[in-house]
Amino acid sequence: MNVILAKSAGFCFGVKRAVDTVYERILEKEPLYTFGPIIHNEEVVRDLEEKGVVVVNDVDELAGKPQGTVIIRAHGVERGVCEKIQTLGFSIVDATCPFVLKIHRLVERYSGEDCHIVIVGNASHPEVKGIKSWSNAEDTRVIGTREEAEKYDASHGKKVCIVSQTTFNYNKFQELVEIIKEKGYDIIVLNTICNATEERQTEARAIAEQVDAMIVIGGRNSSNTQKLFEICKNECKNTYYIQTVKDLDLAEVRSVDNVGITAGASTPNNIIEEVQKNVRNEL
Ligand code: F3S
Repeated sequence: MNVILAKSAGFCFGVKRAVDTVYERILEKEPLYTFGPIIHNEEVVRDLEEKGVVVVNDVDELAGKPQGTVIIRAHGVERGVCEKIQTLGFSIVDATCPFVLKIHRLVERYSGEDCHIVIVGNASHPEVKGIKSWSNAEDTRVIGTREEAEKYDASHGKKVCIVSQTTFNYNKFQELVEIIKEKGYDIIVLNTICNATEERQTEARAIAEQVDAMIVIGGRNSSNTQKLFEICKNECKNTYYIQTVKDLDLAEVRSVDNVGITAGASTPNNIIEEVQKNVRNEL
């Protein structure tokens, strides 16, 4: 059997940096918190919990807890959250990915220059909520579907600045931008999709096109893994979305000649390795 493992599978730069930060801080033996799960991967979050790292999902949850350090995860938080945490006496280690911080700055700048802001992405994702909070324009919109783009209606006399969630599907972003462009607005398009995401998506598509079965590994709540799955499923109908090797029907996968494997940005290497070895029947 031929197994193709995507070179871009697994942790991206920003996620690796955030996860490494937490593991380094554990050594300092002070109360340690992450603001939300550090990554969308249950295995990693469980391991950190066992090592004493507490996940808090809200500033209010910190009240009454022993003071220590709060680590901000790679996709960032809403404006003002860090200040609120510091007011409660906790220290902050900001592991927000620099690519996400760049979008915060762009949105702040263009909304300050009287532009409408459109964020192409998933409105309920924390990264998007964080980006939106940096807009000073009242009518900032999040658009994730064709229907939403078709309905978009900015008032006249202003420019429309379009940015994207870092993990959005590149082709879908272009499609939504085209719909808004056709409305005749004066628009500034800032493609803020992260290169790591684009590379991973392009490679996943290329592999899925040539295999009989495709395996996408990642957390259930990981939006970039969900996107990878969508892309692969389009090219290869036998695409499996798994969190660990336990979710995989190995007999079924081993019954084909060519298998592709990719993984989302929050999937640790050891999980990818385990899947790969099991598929190759090397364990
Ligand atoms: Fe950063 Fe890109 Fe990863 S924005 S968190 S390097 S997917």
